[in-house]
Amino acid sequence: MKILVVGGGGREHAIASALSRNSETRIYSVMAKKNPGIARLAKKICVAKETDVARILAFAGETGVTHAFIGPEAPLEAGVVDRLSAAGVACVGPTKAAARIETDKAFCRDLMTHHHISGNPAYRVFHDMADAIAFVKDYDGDLAIKPIGLTGGKGVRIMGEQVDLAGAVDYIREINGAVVLEERLIGEEFTLQAFVDGAHLIPMPLVQDHKRAFDGDSGPNTGGMGSYTMPDHMLPFVSRKAHSAALSIMASVVAAMAKDGYPYKGILYGQFMNTADGPKVIEFNARFGDPEAMNVLTLLSSDLSDAVTGITEGTLSASKVTFEHAATVCKYLVPEGYPAAPRTGRPLEVGETGDAILYYANVEERDGRLFTLTSRTLAFVGKADTLAMAERIAEQAASAVRGSIHHRRDIGTQALLDRRIAHMKELQ
Ligand code: AMP
Ligand code: GLY
Repeated sequence: MKILVVGGGGREHAIASALSRNSETRIYSVMAKKNPGIARLAKKICVAKETDVARILAFAGETGVTHAFIGPEAPLEAGVVDRLSAAGVACVGPTKAAARIETDKAFCRDLMTHHHISGNPAYRVFHDMADAIAFVKDYDGDLAIKPIGLTGGKGVRIMGEQVDLAGAVDYIREINGAVVLEERLIGEEFTLQAFVDGAHLIPMPLVQDHKRAFDGDSGPNTGGMGSYTMPDHMLPFVSRKAHSAALSIMASVVAAMAKDGYPYKGILYGQFMNTADGPKVIEFNARFGDPEAMNVLTLLSSDLSDAVTGITEGTLSASKVTFEHAATVCKYLVPEGYPAAPRTGRPLEVGETGDAILYYANVEERDGRLFTLTSRTLAFVGKADTLAMAERIAEQAASAVRGSIHHRRDIGTQALLDRRIAHMKELQ
């Protein structure tokens, strides 16, 4: 298989790395910044904007790739899958129309409503600023305020957490009133990702991501500071019943999309809030999560190239996709000041990494040295029989890096897990 990986972050390094375990698979890459990890695995790279569909198409033609794996959402929204498919390249990733499950928050909520799929919070879609503001002022309780389009994961404001009523009104003005307002959900978040071939879903291990920048879930929201999985592929605050409810919501969404004429092929990412009333959908993403991809792809023990064929040909089979029964902990190192004012161009020195797996993200390599850029820099994944051991492996490698960077020390620790479990018990 000759496959083009689009994207240059930690997620795409994990995708390329899993693909490279099959020695027959040839990897090509288009990325906005040269990711040193991906560059080492690829036969040829093209440094270009990931939304530059014409460049991507030309590079695919030049290299003769048969397949493409789209990492981030922006190229999906730009229609890269529609164009590559028309040129005969089989893609892991939905068409522009199907990617609206992520790129258009109103589309996602309305699709679930029309097809009577459970899991929606109470919500309303607004296109008029005055109407949206009037609704917030009248509403008795807290709301989540979501711009309708893509925001890079940083666009949601939660009343009672990040903004008060006045702040909510200001924010709706700032985004011109095109907004989904929904009931604020209370519970514990989890991520369920699945391989999808248009009709069948194969679930991956559950992951918990950590959005806040600092320990104890404090500080601003980020793209995700790190994540963990458990040896049984579950999470201690998600029951079997809640897990199957979440999977059934995702299967219903895939069936609804096929029925409506835009079948979904690729990775479907469900972000859920496990509430006292069961799992509710926070959002869907039309791609792997970053960092969640690094957890599950480190565990994938079957061939990712096989899954690519299954997705693109509509022949996915659960018996051919396997994950190791181990725990993983992923910790991202980010520049000091990230996300608001990241210190860029600062040197980094990787220390003793032990058994940790290093995934490169937004980092520059110059004359054999690493420098920070604006976003998440490097990630370390620890994999072991127990969560405690996996955490220690990731933590030791992360804390051995020197430079103007920081990471969360609490991700994957028992203390943090105990808090999640206690919170869930209290709600029930
Ligand atoms: P998103 O950009 O949609 O991933 O949202 C960012 C974060 O906002 C999520 O990880 C949740 O913590 C939070 N969030 C989004 N929607 C809701 C909601 N309806 N209720 C409570 N929290 C939410
Ligand atoms: N980790 C959240 C995301 O990839 O959107």
